[in-house]
Amino acid sequence: MERVKSGVEGMDTLLGGGLPKYRSILLSGHCGTGKTIFAAQFINEGLRNKEPAVYITFEQGRKKLIEDLSEIGIGFEKHEKAGLLKIIGGPIGQVNYFKDKTRADVSNIISEIKEVIEETRAKRVVLDSVNLYTMLFEGYIDRRKALAGLVSALEKLDCTTLLTCEVRENSRDISWYGFEDFVVDGVIALHRIPFDEGMYERAVSVVKMRGIEHAQTVRALRIKDTGMKIYPEQIPFHR
Ligand SMILES: Nc1ncnc2c1ncn2[C@@H]1O[C@H](COP(=O)(O)OP(=O)(O)O)[C@@H](O)[C@H]1O
Ligand SMILES: [Mg+2]
Repeated sequence: MERVKSGVEGMDTLLGGGLPKYRSILLSGHCGTGKTIFAAQFINEGLRNKEPAVYITFEQGRKKLIEDLSEIGIGFEKHEKAGLLKIIGGPIGQVNYFKDKTRADVSNIISEIKEVIEETRAKRVVLDSVNLYTMLFEGYIDRRKALAGLVSALEKLDCTTLLTCEVRENSRDISWYGFEDFVVDGVIALHRIPFDEGMYERAVSVVKMRGIEHAQTVRALRIKDTGMKIYPEQIPFHR
């Protein structure tokens, strides 16, 4: 299977070479575990090699996303200006781009996303987050259909996709509804592991990756002002 570089130092070692090309991977974790940073580094890795990319953000507005990422040395704005990157979306309350245009009909929203990816010839796509994307729809069945439909549409395009998924605080689930992990080809989980009163450390594990032999262990991860880094040989530091 062809691989693409994840853009996160150490991650490709855990994956035995990189993310599976043209597949959709769920990046799951509690709030603040680094999903957006991971996803942004994945996009940035492509941009550095002049690969077009689409970043769909429902979590924060475009401006805030760009601002936050500039703190860790990622300059999305210049790539957007150069026409290499398209950032779409905004906080869910004002996702007019999709809702007005499509009246939140599942197939319309999916074709809208497909169109953007085709137009830009994106090689890397991020949907941040699946939770807010599915909230455009009502009821469990429609939400499941919306995600399955999107992933199946993405399969026909020449792009590798990361879908972030926030999970409930204090739960050990790897997705919100329980169907997200079935729909995708792989799941990477980001963790915060408590080790002392009020203290925690970051870690990562590959939960599943179809067609790939990957590490089965939880490994240490750090976020600094230079971005996210994984220590592929290191069990969490405080174990
Ligand atoms: N410059 C930095 N130095 C250290 N940690 C940072 C820095 N920037 C962000 N972080 C950490 O990353 C977290 C946010 O990561 P983010 O990717 O937004 O999480 P998620 O998308 O999973 O909610 C912050 O809560 C903070 O702990
Ligand atoms: Mg986020």
